[in-house]
Amino acid sequence: MGIKMKKIITYGTYDLLHYGHVNLLQRAKALGDYLIVALSTDEFNWDEKQKKCYFPYSERKRLLESIRYVDLVIPENSWDQKISDVKEFKVDTFVMGDDWEGKFDFLKEYCDVVYLPRTPEISTTQIKQDLKK
Ligand code: CTP
Repeated sequence: MGIKMKKIITYGTYDLLHYGHVNLLQRAKALGDYLIVALSTDEFNWDEKQKKCYFPYSERKRLLESIRYVDLVIPENSWDQKISDVKEFKVDTFVMGDDWEGKFDFLKEYCDVVYLPRTPEISTTQIKQDLKK
C-alpha cells in the first residue's frame, strides 16, 4: 500500500503558450502530485468555442508535455466529458482560471473544484490582436 497520489485536472486550449498559462499550470500542480491537462482538440475549439487555433493539437500537446508541471495531456472533445474524466482518472481536484468562476460547480459532487485567479493582462487573444497593430 503506497501513499495515495493527489490528482489534479484542468481544461483549456493553450494556443500560443504564454506565461499566463505557465502560471496557471504551476499553481494547479502545487495543489497535488499529478497534473492532467485536458487539451481542446482543433475540432472542439472550432465547433464549440468558435476559436481557430494557430498551433494544431499535436503541437499544443507537445508544448504542454514539455512543461515540468504537466504529467499527462488528454484530448478534450466535448463539454460533457468532465464527470467521466474525473471518475476515470480518479481526480481529486478540478482546477480552472477564474474566468470560469462558478461554471463547473456541478463537479463538486465528484471532486474539489478550485478557480485560480488569472494572470492579469495576458491572453492568447490579446497577443494576436497586439501583433496585428
Ligand atoms: N489563464 C490564466 N491567465 C491568463 C490566461 C489564461 O490563468 N492570463 C488560464 C485560463 O484561465 C485557463 C488556462 O489558462 O484555465 C487556459 O486558458 P486559455 O483559454 O487556453 O488561454 P487564454 O490565453 O485565455 O486564451 P484566449 O484568449 O483564446 O481565451
